[in-house]
Amino acid sequence: MNAVIDKLNFHELMENSLNSHLVLDNRNVVYANMATIELLSLNSKRDIINQSFDLFLHQDFHSICKERLKRVIEYKESVPLMEQKMIQLDGKIIDVEITATPYSHAEKTLAQVIIKDITEKKEIQNKIMQTEKLSLIGELAAGIVHEIRNPLTSIRGFLQLLKNDFPKNEYADIVLTELKQIENITNELLHLSKPKQTNFRRIDLIPIIQESINLFGTKTLKRNVEIFLEKCSEKIYIQGDKTQLKQVFLNLLKNAIESISDNGKIHINVIKTRDDVRISVRDNGTGIPRRLIDSIGKSFITNKPEGTGLGLMVTYNIIESHNGRILIDSEEGKGTVFTIEIPK
Ligand SMILES: Nc1ncnc2c1ncn2[C@@H]1O[C@H](COP(=O)(O)OP(=O)(O)O)[C@@H](O)[C@H]1O
Ligand SMILES: [Mg+2]
Repeated sequence: MNAVIDKLNFHELMENSLNSHLVLDNRNVVYANMATIELLSLNSKRDIINQSFDLFLHQDFHSICKERLKRVIEYKESVPLMEQKMIQLDGKIIDVEITATPYSHAEKTLAQVIIKDITEKKEIQNKIMQTEKLSLIGELAAGIVHEIRNPLTSIRGFLQLLKNDFPKNEYADIVLTELKQIENITNELLHLSKPKQTNFRRIDLIPIIQESINLFGTKTLKRNVEIFLEKCSEKIYIQGDKTQLKQVFLNLLKNAIESISDNGKIHINVIKTRDDVRISVRDNGTGIPRRLIDSIGKSFITNKPEGTGLGLMVTYNIIESHNGRILIDSEEGKGTVFTIEIPK
């Protein structure tokens, strides 16, 4: 056994490690293995050797790092794992876990540092937090919506009576329109928060899309928008909830139409791949501002005076419950493509 170990090349093993290993002389990097190059997106070790470790550490952690290094080098203690942020060569910030231990070398104490990339883990954690937050909002919303809808119904009823008495009163119409807007919001919220009584079954997809298109008849005329459905020749069946999927197409079409001021074309394309069905809705509207794209579907984002920012949240929710995903490709001034992938 020992004979085998004697022959092991420890330098090679270190280079081979999947974790990033560094040796610091005070703050100065004197060694970094190959995983470090990858972790920090460096071109070569030359980018980091003889540089200050601080250069690659997020500003927020400089002082804690200094303290921890002091513990390692002066008091010869190991320091436990700690979540920190580092900066890659191109400026991208990544989440890492760092630990360090003293290493005596030529009458000097160096710090042996081990870094693990936890960016992916953090992303999953954030997603879970987001989901929990949403379900909490959902619970709250369900209660609030319930409380709001009853008085709303009676307000609308009495207003209608008032209008019958004073048919020329234009204020009543304004209030009714505003009420309609509140109702739209509460309905969408209710849909979001309702424990989903999903009704999954084998469904024929194309007629659902066709029915959704038909619902927009007048609106598309007004804005001079044409909708084209380019379907493939065979029938397409998926496992899904018909009402929910219809809501998805309605939301996507509504947004597409609203993004167009005139002379719009919306193309719906349905294709079948080996494992899934891909439906894309392409418009030649305004496109989505770049700064909004990442938050779309995650929070109440809207740039419309009468928007709720709920449509896409509902859409994302539904597609997620179908084990599918949504991809967005959008260019400002050119248009947007929403692609939905649903497993067969
Ligand atoms: N096809 C599209 N073209 C341009 N912008 C879009 C499109 N679809 C969605 N958006 C943007 O995403 C936002 C959120 O959409 P949505 O959740 O449906 O809320 P709402 O339509 O009520 O604003 C919209 O306000 C708009 O800025
Ligand atoms: Mg919308």
